[in-house]
Amino acid sequence: MAKTVETIDLVKNFNGLTAVDRVNLSVEKGEIFGLLGPNGAGKTTTIKMLITLLKPTSGKAMVAGFDVLTQADEVRKRIGYVPQESALDIRLTASENLELFAELYALPKSKIKARIQEVLELVELNRRKDDLVAHFSGGMKRRLEISRGLLPTPEVLFLDEPTLGLDPQTRRVVWEFVHRLQKEWNLTILATTHYLEEAEHEMDKVAIIDKGRIMAMGRPDDLKAEFGKDLVELTVKAQNGGSSEEQVRSRLLQLQLGSDLIVRDKAVRVAVANGKTALPSIIHKIESIGIEVESISVRSPSLDDVFIKYTGRGIREEEGAEDSSDTRKQLAKIIGKMRSRV
Ligand SMILES: Nc1ncnc2c1ncn2[C@@H]1O[C@H](COP(=O)(O)OP(=O)(O)O)[C@@H](O)[C@H]1O
Ligand SMILES: [Mg+2]
Repeated sequence: MAKTVETIDLVKNFNGLTAVDRVNLSVEKGEIFGLLGPNGAGKTTTIKMLITLLKPTSGKAMVAGFDVLTQADEVRKRIGYVPQESALDIRLTASENLELFAELYALPKSKIKARIQEVLELVELNRRKDDLVAHFSGGMKRRLEISRGLLPTPEVLFLDEPTLGLDPQTRRVVWEFVHRLQKEWNLTILATTHYLEEAEHEMDKVAIIDKGRIMAMGRPDDLKAEFGKDLVELTVKAQNGGSSEEQVRSRLLQLQLGSDLIVRDKAVRVAVANGKTALPSIIHKIESIGIEVESISVRSPSLDDVFIKYTGRGIREEEGAEDSSDTRKQLAKIIGKMRSRV
């Protein structure tokens, strides 16, 4: 079956920095595909190559059946893009913002009105179409931006951090609209996120990206199942005589409690085939070397555990402020590109 997005060993270098490192992605038609990774992982750079805003250093990428390098115009006709940074004119109404872009997208004049109505209905902003965007909430602005990405009737919609900076409830609402798009318009959606919960609950398929590399790819449930195990988490009492974390770790390692052992401060996590049956023997083994167990619990793996397994650290440790310095420049570039299509 033909893939809607496919990359083969896609690479992007920026003066010595490899931002995207031999990335192989494969997105099926009608799928919501998530690129999950911390800031600086290479998500935006990957998207920009797929939407023909950046030239790959090497490798190949196909979008909707066309090569991003040699058939860029064909690709551009079939994609919608909602950038990471907001790019609405708050002094204009919702409709006016869309009209501006409808012209840039070169939609036929006779169709603009109906099309705007259609995309606004989809994100349930039709009743607010004549209100100034300045009065919109963060979630409404994001929905308006998504509707703008739909103006050219794309086959593939690229959403770069669609819920960045929104509160959890609003994020949920934005995702509900994305799911509607997928269902009602049979759109293929490639979205980036650094929110694990979103990757886990909103995406059909996820690629974990770190330092430009794809570390794992699959359905969230499959990725968790690959982990194959229950996770036993326990805390141990502080040691008299003050063993270091490293000493505790090496003593625990020797006990062969299970796989994927992590020791952090007084917290220990280990993967076992069956948590419930393993508990007594784990407690027994640890206490037999003179370390006292304070608390213990069993849970199923989350995508966070999968992320840690492949990258060696939690994604949450990496969350930080987004770099928004070159928003204006980026926007100017996007508009320039669109103008060149008109
Ligand atoms: N135009 C550019 N010039 C130089 N380095 C860049 C440029 N764009 C991105 N980078 C670098 O490439 C890496 C990946 O960035 P980016 O794709 O924006 O990551 P993400 O979207 O996952 O946060 C980062 O180290 C970033 O600083
Ligand atoms: Mg980004």
